[in-house]
Amino acid sequence: MSTRYTDPVAHPIAEHPRITVVGVGYLGATHAVCMAALGFDVLGVDVDEDKVAELAAGRVPFFEPGLQEKLSEMLAEGRLSFTTDFDRAADFGDVHFVCVGTPQSDDSDAADLTFVESAFEALATRIRSKALLVGKSTVPIGTADRLTRMVAARSPIGADLELAWNPEFLREGFAVEDTLHPDRLVFGVASEWAERQLRAVYAPILEEDTPLVVADLPTAELVKVAANSFLATKISYINAMAEVCEATGADVDLLAEALSFDDRIGGRFLKPGLGFGGGCLPKDIRAFAHRADELGVGDAVAFLHEVDEINTRRRLRLVDLVRELAGGDLEGTRVAALGAAFKPNSDDVRDAPALDVARMLSLEGAEVVVYDPEANENAHRTYPDLDYVDSLEEAVTDAEVVALLTEWDEFGEADPFALGELVNTRRIVDGRHALDADKYRDAGWEYRALGQPAEPEVRVSLAR
Ligand SMILES: NC(=O)c1ccc[n+]([C@@H]2O[C@H](COP(=O)([O-])OP(=O)(O)OC[C@H]3O[C@@H](n4cnc5c(N)ncnc54)[C@H](O)[C@@H]3O)[C@@H](O)[C@H]2O)c1
Repeated sequence: MSTRYTDPVAHPIAEHPRITVVGVGYLGATHAVCMAALGFDVLGVDVDEDKVAELAAGRVPFFEPGLQEKLSEMLAEGRLSFTTDFDRAADFGDVHFVCVGTPQSDDSDAADLTFVESAFEALATRIRSKALLVGKSTVPIGTADRLTRMVAARSPIGADLELAWNPEFLREGFAVEDTLHPDRLVFGVASEWAERQLRAVYAPILEEDTPLVVADLPTAELVKVAANSFLATKISYINAMAEVCEATGADVDLLAEALSFDDRIGGRFLKPGLGFGGGCLPKDIRAFAHRADELGVGDAVAFLHEVDEINTRRRLRLVDLVRELAGGDLEGTRVAALGAAFKPNSDDVRDAPALDVARMLSLEGAEVVVYDPEANENAHRTYPDLDYVDSLEEAVTDAEVVALLTEWDEFGEADPFALGELVNTRRIVDGRHALDADKYRDAGWEYRALGQPAEPEVRVSLAR
């Protein structure tokens, strides 16, 4: 790291900075609300007028536990507002967090950086006094260096507008808790001034002894994609073992349980099932592999292609299981698809395995009825041709096969006897290994799960 601007007198920081958050989607809205909750004055900025209007009116435009209450509180306290006006944002902030989307490009695995570039440019051309631009979006390695050059070229104040990268590790469903109490902070900085400025922003969190890694810009970018690659690999690893189990009659749940007792392996993210999805893991591992290719080190992460393939195969295999239960043909079979979101406690359906499976079942002629406690609306927008209903009971009524695709608590807590009264045929595929198989079998259900034998003779839990 450069030691530029080490003198706190010659290069003071804003001790209690005013903060803007550019891009108020899942990440940015949470960040804006939480920064206000930490005591800062915050202005959220977005190009989406509807989203800004919703947030300004106190409504979170997506489902995230705990966020709605905090948004209302912060608006009432007057510490948080929202705008589409970049001039206002440029004047307002001492520190500007950029949280815009970096989706997969339409024509390749690369990340689409259009939104990031336009957000940095909008700020760079408008800001007229010393400030820090902080990228939080997940970007390919080298993006921050490139943006630093662009900002220096476009900014009227030149090098006084500095750039840092502060990757975000929050999990949807736990976003508020993860933002206010992260397991670590990573600052990618190019000067000590930027580090001091970021320390001032995160002072309340650092006071809780949160681990902090201060790094150069490329390392900070890499931390995020490396972390997501590791998590994706762990999920696909146990799902690869599920494939082996399916060929041998072994039981992947018992296997995972036995592996989890090894401290070097651990049980988290070692849960077999329908695999990963969402707005981050799939596109992040693809963009990483693509960027590694560009850098000439594609071989180093070539395994990520396999991780992706294994993940996709789970969806196909789940469709196979539903077809098997339906007697070999899905045409006209009524299937209850329980869940559409990519995971529980979220309404995010971006690259959601659940919705993908529902779509594939429908393409094979099944009459698919989808129910998700929170994601029906987003799912309907993505696949308007599927049938959506408002309750678990409605979804399973007259079903010939039930497929559990997202592990919402509501599904795990349902009574198999009561559900059995509603369905046409008691057949269930537990795509998330979230149900008590014995309970379902005792209630007369034919129960199937990925990586488990159809009729296990003896199920022994190693946890006992
Ligand atoms: N969602 C997560 O859990 C999560 C976690 C960690 C990191 N990330 C990363 O954060 C970034 C944002 O993800 P997200 O899930 O919040 O996406 P999102 O699609 O929910 O939100 C992106 C927002 O940026 C806005 N936007 C686009 N261009 C803009 C511009 N030029 N100026 C202002 N606003 C603009 C969009 O209107 C949208 O509201 C991505 O890089 C993602 O990989 C997301």
